[in-house]
Amino acid sequence: MALNPLDADGRIRPVVLVVDDDPGLRESFRLILEDDYEVLYAPDGSQALETLRFHQVDVVLLDIRLPDMDGIEVLERIKALDEHVDVILVTAVQTIRTAVTAMKLGAFDYVTKPFEEEEILSLVRRALERRALDREVVYLRSELARQHDFEELVGRHPEMQRLYQLIESVARTPVTVLITGESGTGKELVARAIHRQGPWRDSPFVPVNLAAISETLMESELFGHERGAFTGALQKKLGKFELAQGGTFFLDEIAALRLDLQAKILRVLQEREIERVGGTRRIKIDARIISATNAELKKAVQDGTLREDLYYRLNVVQIPVPPLRQRRQDIALLVDHFIRKYNRRFHKHVTGVSPTALKVLQSYPWPGNVRELENIVERSVALTDGPRIDLKDFPLDLMLPDLRVRGGGTDRLPLKEAREQFERQVVLRVLERVRWNQTEAARLLGLHRNTLKVKLAAWGIRRAGSGRGSG
Ligand SMILES: Nc1ncnc2c1ncn2[C@@H]1O[C@H](COP(=O)(O)OP(=O)(O)OP(=O)(O)O)[C@@H](O)[C@H]1O
Ligand SMILES: [Mg+2]
Repeated sequence: MALNPLDADGRIRPVVLVVDDDPGLRESFRLILEDDYEVLYAPDGSQALETLRFHQVDVVLLDIRLPDMDGIEVLERIKALDEHVDVILVTAVQTIRTAVTAMKLGAFDYVTKPFEEEEILSLVRRALERRALDREVVYLRSELARQHDFEELVGRHPEMQRLYQLIESVARTPVTVLITGESGTGKELVARAIHRQGPWRDSPFVPVNLAAISETLMESELFGHERGAFTGALQKKLGKFELAQGGTFFLDEIAALRLDLQAKILRVLQEREIERVGGTRRIKIDARIISATNAELKKAVQDGTLREDLYYRLNVVQIPVPPLRQRRQDIALLVDHFIRKYNRRFHKHVTGVSPTALKVLQSYPWPGNVRELENIVERSVALTDGPRIDLKDFPLDLMLPDLRVRGGGTDRLPLKEAREQFERQVVLRVLERVRWNQTEAARLLGLHRNTLKVKLAAWGIRRAGSGRGSG
C-alpha cells in the first residue's frame, strides 16, 4: 500500500483504517475522509489486524458485522495490540446493544448507518483531539515539576544579541539544530527558546539527557517498547520520540549516544519514523529535533565514537552559545536575575550585591559558566542574613584563582588588586578554620589583631551573625 503521509504543509496526516466488507461503504468513507486523512482499508477482521501490525493507525472505523469475525472480538484484539488506537464502531440500528457493550470494552464511540458525512468527520476529529490530549497529559506528568518562570535568557552582550537573532530565525522552520557550548552556558534554555518561539509552541518540548540514562534503558526510553518486548516490559510504553509528536525533541549530551543507537537515530532523521522495541510497525515521527553537546563533535568523529553521517544530519544549523567569561558585562544582570529568582524561592528580601562582591564575581573565570554563577547566587541568597550579598557569603574557592582555566580571570588583574584578592582569600580561609576567632586568626597570620580588623573592615567582611566568636 503506497502511503503518502504528508499534507500540503509537510505535516504528517493522521491515519484512519476503514474496516468494512461492503465496497460501496468503503468508497463513501474514502470520499468523506481522503481530503484530510490517510485512509487504509480492510475488508475483514483478520486483514484489519494484519494492517494494524504493520502500520501506525490513529483511528479505526470498524463495521461491527464482518464476514470472518465478530466485531467485538476484532475490537478486543485491536485494543490488545495497541490500547491507544481509537475505534469507532459502525453499526446498524439493530446492533446498538452490541455497540454499547463495545463502548465498555474501550471503543471510542459508535455511529449508526446510514450516517451523515459530518457525523463521521466530527467523530474522527474528536478521537484525534483526545489522542493529542492523552499524549500531552503523559508528557505533562513526566515534566510535572518543572517551573516555567525564570526561563528566559538573560544577557545584552553583542554575542547574546546574535544568539537571539539566530534563535528567532531558526524557530520559524523545522530545521534540525545543533547547540554547542561549554557546560552551563544555557544550551537547554536556548533549545526551549527555539521551541517557544516556533509555531509549534503549544506542542510538547521533550528533553532527553543521554548522559543521564543508563545504556540498557536508552533504547526503550527513546523509542518505547511493546508489551513483552523484554523481561520486565509488562506494559507498552511510548518512547520520548513519540511523546514529542508535533513538537520538539531535545537530545541533550549527544556525544553520550551509544554507537548502535546512533544508526537508529540517523534513521529517524532521514526517514522520520521509528519502531518501538519489540515492535513490527513503523511509526511516523513529526517533531523538530534539536541536539546539544559540550564536546568537540568533530573530534568524536575522528575518534570513531560518533558516526560522521549522523554528525552532518544533526549539524544542519549550528548555534554556538558563548561562555560566560566572554561576556562579563552580563554578570551583573544575571546576578540580579538570580537574586530575584531565589528571593522568591527562599522567601528572602535580598536587594543586591555589594560592589566588592560584584567585583569578585566579575573577575572569576567561571569554568562552570552561568550554572556555576547561579549556584553561587542561590547559595548566597539562602545563607546571607544581611540585605545585600557580600564577600562573606561566598565559598572560598570562588576567590581562589582557578588554575584550570587559562587566559581568563585573575591573571589579568593588576598586580596590586591580584595581591589583595589573594590576601583576602588567605585571611578568609584562616578565619573559617578558626571559626572566626579573630585573635586566633591574627596570631596564625602573624598580624596584629587591630591590623586584621582594619583589613576586614576595608574589605567589607563581617561574619554572618556578626560579633559571635570574635575573640
Ligand atoms: N543566559 C542565561 N540567562 C539566564 N539563565 C541562564 C542563562 N544561561 C544559563 N542559565 C541558567 O543556568 C543553568 C544552566 O543552563 P542550561 O542547563 O541551559 O546549561 P547547559 O548549557 O545545558 O549545560 P550542560 O552542558 O551542563 O547541560 C540553568 O539553570 C539556566 O536556567
Ligand atoms: Mg544541558
